Amino acid sequence: MDQNELKKLVGEKSAEWVEDGMIVGLGTGSTVKFMVDAVGRRVQEEGLKITGVTTSIRTAEQATALGIPLKSVDEVDHIDLTIDGADEISDDFHGIKGGGAALLFEKIVATNSDRNLWIVDETKLVEKLGAFPLPVEVIPYGSQKVFEKFEKAGLNPTFRKLDDGEFLLTDSKNYIIDLHLKRIEDPHALADYLINQVGVVEHGLFLDTVNTVIVGRQDGPEVLEA
Ligand code: A5P
Repeated sequence: MDQNELKKLVGEKSAEWVEDGMIVGLGTGSTVKFMVDAVGRRVQEEGLKITGVTTSIRTAEQATALGIPLKSVDEVDHIDLTIDGADEISDDFHGIKGGGAALLFEKIVATNSDRNLWIVDETKLVEKLGAFPLPVEVIPYGSQKVFEKFEKAGLNPTFRKLDDGEFLLTDSKNYIIDLHLKRIEDPHALADYLINQVGVVEHGLFLDTVNTVIVGRQDGPEVLEA
């Protein structure tokens, strides 16, 4: 199976975790897309009744097209389960997310969820985080100053840009600065530093967040409990 088939495998498997009556956080990304399709099929074919809380405009559009009823995070009193992808998961179950630029809403939904289930192909499992560039969402005003501060701190920043050279804008109309760190020895210390910089809205370190991971392996899905 190639990487895309592994994503499909875990995306479809994770839809089995969704139960009637649940309020379900719906993540973002190419793996989640398979999950949302599978949940949508269950809504249409089994009459599964759920409320979705989406983490991006993309996922909201997909879910709406499939007939999944949606509410915003502010309209629900809790979220039973959120299913999302990840860019890296370390041995101690910390994660980097935001490769798809949806980290802000993803973190808001994740931190308001009773349980978090991540779905990844086996290439996403690493010993330590950092090979995947760490996304940091920043307010456009003053973002050059934040960038320079990151440069001075040796964090190897790059602004995320589109093919035409324009700055990528998140759903909240912010910029993303990717930090090329190679290896993050102390993710908690880095998370504390980043969230305390003026102009930073959120970062892609999701620490102590996930409860369960479904890993797509060549011989089938493997479930890991954090
Ligand atoms: C979106 O911003 C991300 O956090 C995604 O969940 C993450 O990048 C995984 O994406 P894929 O499933 O597309 O690899």
